[in-house]
Amino acid sequence: MAYKDTYEHWQRDPEGFWMEAAAQVDWVTPPSRALFDENAPLYEWFADGVLNACWNAVDRHVEAGRGDQLAIIHDSPITHSYRGITYRELQSRVAGLAGALRAKGIEKGDRVIIYMPMVPEALEAMLACARLGAIHSVVFGGFAAHELAVRIDDCTPKAIIAASCGLEPGRVVHYKPLLDRAIDEARHKPEFCVIFQREQEVAQLIEGRDVAWHSFQFGVEPADCVPVNGNHPQYILYTSGTTGQPKGVVRHTGGHVVALNWSMKNIYAIDAGDVFWAASDVGWVVGHSYICYAPLFAGATTVVFEGKPVGTPDAGTFWRVIQNHKVKSFFTAPTAIRAVRREDPEGELIKDYNLRSLQALFLAGERADPDTVAWAEEKLGVPVIDHWWQTETGWAIAASPFGIEKLPIKRGSPSVPMPGYDVQVLDEAGQPVPPGTLGAITVRLPLPPGTLPGLWNADDRFRKSYLTTYPGHYETGDAGYLDEDGYLYIMARTDDVINVAGHRLSTGAMEEVLSGHPAVAECAVIGVADPLKGQMPMGFLCLKKGMTGDPGQVCKDVVRMVRDQIGPVAAFKTAIVVDRLPKTRSGKILRATMAKIADGEDFKPPSTIDEPAVLDEIAQVLKSRGYPAAG
Ligand code: COA
Ligand code: AMP
Repeated sequence: MAYKDTYEHWQRDPEGFWMEAAAQVDWVTPPSRALFDENAPLYEWFADGVLNACWNAVDRHVEAGRGDQLAIIHDSPITHSYRGITYRELQSRVAGLAGALRAKGIEKGDRVIIYMPMVPEALEAMLACARLGAIHSVVFGGFAAHELAVRIDDCTPKAIIAASCGLEPGRVVHYKPLLDRAIDEARHKPEFCVIFQREQEVAQLIEGRDVAWHSFQFGVEPADCVPVNGNHPQYILYTSGTTGQPKGVVRHTGGHVVALNWSMKNIYAIDAGDVFWAASDVGWVVGHSYICYAPLFAGATTVVFEGKPVGTPDAGTFWRVIQNHKVKSFFTAPTAIRAVRREDPEGELIKDYNLRSLQALFLAGERADPDTVAWAEEKLGVPVIDHWWQTETGWAIAASPFGIEKLPIKRGSPSVPMPGYDVQVLDEAGQPVPPGTLGAITVRLPLPPGTLPGLWNADDRFRKSYLTTYPGHYETGDAGYLDEDGYLYIMARTDDVINVAGHRLSTGAMEEVLSGHPAVAECAVIGVADPLKGQMPMGFLCLKKGMTGDPGQVCKDVVRMVRDQIGPVAAFKTAIVVDRLPKTRSGKILRATMAKIADGEDFKPPSTIDEPAVLDEIAQVLKSRGYPAAG
């Protein structure tokens, strides 16, 4: 069937479409229907079906005779190690871990935070929670203790599962002290912590609170899968909003299993037995969906890669992994390809490897610039497929569905809406704009299975953040346009979220840290264009009157504070002291205009600007710093 037919099938009969997709996964009790719209505009999918996500990811493949197939390949150029785990081994490891968690009181509905690097045990921890119906919340290892504490207080976990350390090139990330600091800072205290000791660093355990991963499993009865309803939360994943308080995106079990299973075959063209690799991190949504769950739902082999695109040891790492493990579809962020290209512009290292297994490269996480797409297409000789989605949706809103039809690729566009998504581009009054016209991108409700039904303990925030601006629609926070052929172009965010190396970050959160400096009167953080990372944060500080200290020192202080409080992943390296910030008459800081000045883009100051001269002052300061950058 062609894409158009599939999309029309969904438009004509969404119930039938999703019930057919639901029949492809295992249920203890199949759902009586797909959509539950009684509480519209809040929707649920497959709410009365009963299933278990871990069963669908692991046990069912062992039952189907795939026990000896590799489920996980751990490839770690950082530790120079390689390990394969079969589905049968995974089943026994996950059942053992789940049994030990249950023995310590973890039950269906309890929250468990997971703070781990790219080791298979991170996936095992996620799956063990899913096995018990416990709700996991994975926190990315590049976040600092404070961010972890904020998440502990929001989702109030009964337990935390952490590793002793993570490994960044040339640096050991000491997870355990970060964990201890976070628990000290948080108001809520977990009952216990499970520590996975890595050989690179053995952490000190706190007696009475911490247990060791291996010893706490010793002699414990393995746990079977606990059936849960389709609308039982499987996980919470925090993502950046406009403030320092992250949003806890909830994922319900039924829709998650059905939609991700559908996506593997239809978008990524992956069947049971194939090898799929998403080079991201379990701390991000890409890691949840496409390192852990979807490849396993599909009975494929997933690669857990602990390394970087460059420097571990060189820009040929990606190609080595693809060759050695016969990767069929590969997924990464454009920034990673830009990093590889910068080191190996002619793609010489690609020639050292046999990439015959590779059928396509998938890109997401940030805008894929046409130049990078063209380079990858030429050097790899396979289709390069940009696709667009968000933590909130959990799977692609727009893509070229490679498993359905090889649609023509238009560089710079993540192609066309996936079934389930009625994508609209609206003007400020909420009216659809003609093709080629920029507007706010929305999705007409209901969102499809697998997307967020709400935010953890924050119904009002959910409605305000996503459902209020355009009634009847989900507001994506992205702006862009559709062309005459229905291809979508994503151009910018409509809020203060920035995207640094494929990582979604809140400038509001950084501003909260900057304002905490005793010398700072007010501040603004913007994202400026960066050739490698897409965007980099830049902070502007107005110092308090009569401040006698060294402004240079204040800048150094705030850089350190962001690293300490948000984490190294914020990549906040530049702070500039200015006399005043440009504002509207009502006092709103003109961040978007400042970003345009820094990027050398045309801009029109809003008519509500208070003092236009401030923009010139900002332009002067930026110029003295080399912005806009040449080229
Ligand atoms: N744990 C602890 N620290 C981490 C971390 C983790 N899991 N991941 C990143 N960091 C740290 C890095 O060590 C770096 O620290 P530093 O300031 O001491 O150098 C900082 O966070 C910024 O990291 P990053 O933005 O990743 O930049 P980089 O310069 O280390 O590497 C790239 C640049 C392009 C190679 C890298 O960003 C990359 O691989 N990007 C791909 C992004 C991706 O997969 N995104 C997922 C969405 S699909
Ligand atoms: P995250 O929730 O971290 O996955 O970030 C989602 C945001 O990243 C989106 O709202 C977009 O702003 C951006 N994004 C993700 N994928 C793409 C893409 N293919 N093209 C353009 N922007 C993207």
